Amino acid sequence: MPLVSMRQLLDEASKGGYGVGAFNVNNMEQIQSIMEAARETQSPVIIQASRGARAYSQDRFLYHLMQAAAELYPEIPTVLHLDHGNSPETCQSAIEMGFTSVMMDGSLMPDGKTPASFEYNVEVTRKVVEMAHAKGVTVEGEIGCLGGIEDGHGAGGDGLSHLTDPDQAVEFVEKTGVDALAIAIGTSHGAYKFTAKPTGETLKMETLIEIHRRLPNTHLVMHGSSSVPKELQDIVNQYGGKLKPTWGVPVEETQLGIRNGVRKINVDTDNRLAITGAIRKVLMEKPEEFDPRSYMKPARDAMKKVVAERMVQFGQAGHAKDYAPLSLEEMRKRYQSEAVTA
Ligand code: G3H
Ligand code: 13P
Ligand code: ZN
Repeated sequence: MPLVSMRQLLDEASKGGYGVGAFNVNNMEQIQSIMEAARETQSPVIIQASRGARAYSQDRFLYHLMQAAAELYPEIPTVLHLDHGNSPETCQSAIEMGFTSVMMDGSLMPDGKTPASFEYNVEVTRKVVEMAHAKGVTVEGEIGCLGGIEDGHGAGGDGLSHLTDPDQAVEFVEKTGVDALAIAIGTSHGAYKFTAKPTGETLKMETLIEIHRRLPNTHLVMHGSSSVPKELQDIVNQYGGKLKPTWGVPVEETQLGIRNGVRKINVDTDNRLAITGAIRKVLMEKPEEFDPRSYMKPARDAMKKVVAERMVQFGQAGHAKDYAPLSLEEMRKRYQSEAVTA
């Protein structure tokens, strides 16, 4: 089946009361890991690429790899989503390239670091909604800013500096018409999210619950949601890595989010850790190896294991064949008729 709209996946997840992991990719092996995990667990799936990933893969490689994924795994509803688009132009180029969903992250200025004004965010996000919906493409917006800057996205600090204000979230959704809303509740991108297991003081699940109470029909998105498992940190360090002790978002907290309107959960760091640990292990245990397949295969298997685990934990497992995917043209007509009746 062709790549599908994210809106339909999230609507179905909402009906079924489950969440869908959105996993970042940069190369063929990561796409293969995710598709194999999706087949094994029978999960619909969101594959996402950042601006960095698009530059790394020169866009076209990524596009054709994703076409191969759709061809080889026809039973899996698969979305290609732009992660953290920094301007309407970036979103437009992604849509032209074949992405079926885009994030316009107007919570930050185009530098991906400076917090933007509410008015700027509304203006750029609304522009992208108009442009994307005219092609049946889904739009995710963000209100409030994540912490951390290590991956090039985020306002810096500890994640608590720019939390989402529930009033602004309501106004933002009304003014932009986004399909999904990313919120800031204390998480950050990367491995160093929390210096101890998070509590209600550092991970604001109450804010998420309040936003869901005010916006019961909006699909919420949790960014920076890797759980940074100690086992994965330990493997990296056991084989020569130098990760400092750190904590991520416990899976139980993500599951609490899913019970309160979270439909998309972004995970990149856990997979990076799994890949790095597996590669380090081979290179350290077998220093005579120089065939890249000797370490890329275990790396691919390690990532597949993490992704399959998350698919089960988020509840998307078993839902791949629940519905017939709509084409982007059908989605376009749906948006058009909503606009007429609104
Ligand atoms: O948003 C953060 C994701 O982990 C992607 O990171 O920009 O280094 O590809 P990246
Ligand atoms: P992690 O760094 O927690 O995996 O978050 C990834 C993310 O939010 C991508 O947008
Ligand atoms: Zn993110």
